[in-house]
Amino acid sequence: MKYNLLDAQREFLEIPHSYSMDVAVYQGGYGSGKTFAGSLLGILLSLKFPGIRGLVGAQTYTLVRDTTLQSYFEHLDSMGFVLGADYKWISADQKIVFYNGSEILFRHFDEPNKLKSLNLGFVEIEEMSDIPFDTFKMLVARLRQNQKTSWKNFTYRIFGHTNPELNQGWIYKTFMVDPPPNYRLICAPTTQNIYLPKNFCEDLKNLYDEKYYKTFVLGQTGNYSENLVVKDFSNDNIKEIQYRDDFDVHISCDFNVDPMAWVLAHKTEDKVFYFDELVLENTTTSKTCDEFYRRYPHHKGKIIINGDASGDNRSCTSEYTNYVIIKRKMAEFGYEADIKIKAFNPPIKNRVAAFNAKVRNAAGEIGLYVSPKCEKLLYNIYNLRYIEGSSRIDIPSYSQIKQSKELKFLSHPFDAASYLVDFYWPIVL
Ligand SMILES: Nc1ncnc2c1ncn2[C@@H]1O[C@H](COP(=O)(O)OP(=O)(O)OP(=O)(O)O)[C@@H](O)[C@H]1O
Ligand SMILES: [Mg+2]
Repeated sequence: MKYNLLDAQREFLEIPHSYSMDVAVYQGGYGSGKTFAGSLLGILLSLKFPGIRGLVGAQTYTLVRDTTLQSYFEHLDSMGFVLGADYKWISADQKIVFYNGSEILFRHFDEPNKLKSLNLGFVEIEEMSDIPFDTFKMLVARLRQNQKTSWKNFTYRIFGHTNPELNQGWIYKTFMVDPPPNYRLICAPTTQNIYLPKNFCEDLKNLYDEKYYKTFVLGQTGNYSENLVVKDFSNDNIKEIQYRDDFDVHISCDFNVDPMAWVLAHKTEDKVFYFDELVLENTTTSKTCDEFYRRYPHHKGKIIINGDASGDNRSCTSEYTNYVIIKRKMAEFGYEADIKIKAFNPPIKNRVAAFNAKVRNAAGEIGLYVSPKCEKLLYNIYNLRYIEGSSRIDIPSYSQIKQSKELKFLSHPFDAASYLVDFYWPIVL
């Protein structure tokens, strides 16, 4: 059986550098040959480096079992390998073992801690945009199987495939904005897969709107700056910001159970410096105060609480307002906290305008800086959008959040940060 690879697949398989590790992502449209290329690479590595241990996974086990594993079996069949003689499938361990001692484990990445003890030669990730960056980093750290002397020209490999991200996420940042020299992103339009049925792409073109077609057929990264709520934010707004225990700290709060979103800032007369954030899942106001104290146990400056004006309403579940709870907790820690919030929240468009004016005003001056530590706030700045053709902010629905967990962090951290700006530098429209 002889394969003719697509250009993108060949580029994905071959390594154009001599670093000891290769990190590659095959970003393509539907049916662009992603799974085909990934599973072929996994098998080739297992044959070339006897005794290698590979891990193949996806966020859910169903995806691994129904897609990736099937593709491995199809390749093995096409290559004339015989089950039982050339390789075995060990169901109890969910792994393929080759006659040469190589083995490939098939796993889901839902509980990444369970994979922490593995030492691997390669890792394959199916639908990479579904997995969190932390899982990816953990997997990179697993690439440390002892090399055998018989392995010639061995390179550790972590490779994945994905549809383009819908939001500007870690794949875009890691592989497209200033990637290390051993990180590669290969773009594979579905239109280049000559093995698909005739008219496949034409039919999709008729079915999808232009934007969807570009993403899911041409495999192109979207225009991430389109319709963004925060305009003109650039790398000039990002700065390592040193927390100072003798400076006043502003805690600006948006109250939710999941996630609670507070940002921490220092402030001058005309500038704000966000140096940290407390974005916590399934929590309470009181526990979030505990986390603040855990991180900043020796604060000497004042503590000023800003935030959502509606957080001062008595909720039916709590005897105290959120702000009273914060004040009491801070007093327990020996801190005095001043509450500075508006009597009521202004229209959201005013708050957005105030925030944007600090990001960069008409004269081009910057009045707002964010530390790279504020990951969720930055995620909001890069991804919070208006609904196309409207002035309403696109807040993820419950069902969207169910499908993509990261979305639950969209909107609340921006709200928290912008309450502060709106309090000190309001704009009335
Ligand atoms: N080099 C090749 N030679 C022969 N067939 C190929 C080749 N590359 C891909 N194919 C075939 O093209 C079809 C689509 O490939 P594949 O399933 O790998 O795409 P995909 O990008 O993973 O699709 P999806 O978006 O559905 O996950 C499959 O039937 C596959 O066998
Ligand atoms: Mg696939």
